[in-house]
Amino acid sequence: MALPVMLAFGLGLWPGPVPAGDPTRAVAERQAEMDRMAEAMRVLGRFLKGEAVTAAEIAAGAGAIHRIAAGLAAGLFPEGTAIGVGNSAARPEIWQEWDLFGQYATDLRAAAVRLAAVAATGDVRALREPVVAVVRACGACHELFRKKP
Ligand code: HEC
Repeated sequence: MALPVMLAFGLGLWPGPVPAGDPTRAVAERQAEMDRMAEAMRVLGRFLKGEAVTAAEIAAGAGAIHRIAAGLAAGLFPEGTAIGVGNSAARPEIWQEWDLFGQYATDLRAAAVRLAAVAATGDVRALREPVVAVVRACGACHELFRKKP
């Protein structure tokens, strides 16, 4: 799985922002995707707390995060869906600094690819560092681009 994923990542392009067809719905849909990522994160959190988690469970979580992170570029943040639309917590800077926002999405994908690759080796002890890198990639983007709850 790692090689095709790497290739897809290498070819990944960051397109320009598109306008939202139905802004309120776009906000709800991307929040649902973010919640799915948080679900996948839970297994990583359990791992960091020292609970028994298998490398296969971590690999599955990394795969889900990678899939959703790729979706960030595929229209999850259309223009016109900033704070003020529905319950959006998306700061307007996202669209002013679109390339930087895209860089954070790309960083998360890269961290998820790396985590999946390490998990595939089955070496649980080697997983801490790539797990922490994924957690940081979520936080780095939220810090700049998500309104504090
Ligand atoms: C490229 C930037 C970026 C990355 C990377 C990112 N997020 Fe987010 N996230 C956001 C933004 C912006 C919002 C606010 C979206 C909104 O309210 O419409 C958000 C919202 C959320 C929410 C709240 C969803 C809701 O129901 O309101 C959760 C949970 C979340 N992110 C989890 C994660 C996790 C877990 C990761 C990493 C695996 C992650 N995010 C990575 C930008 C990012």
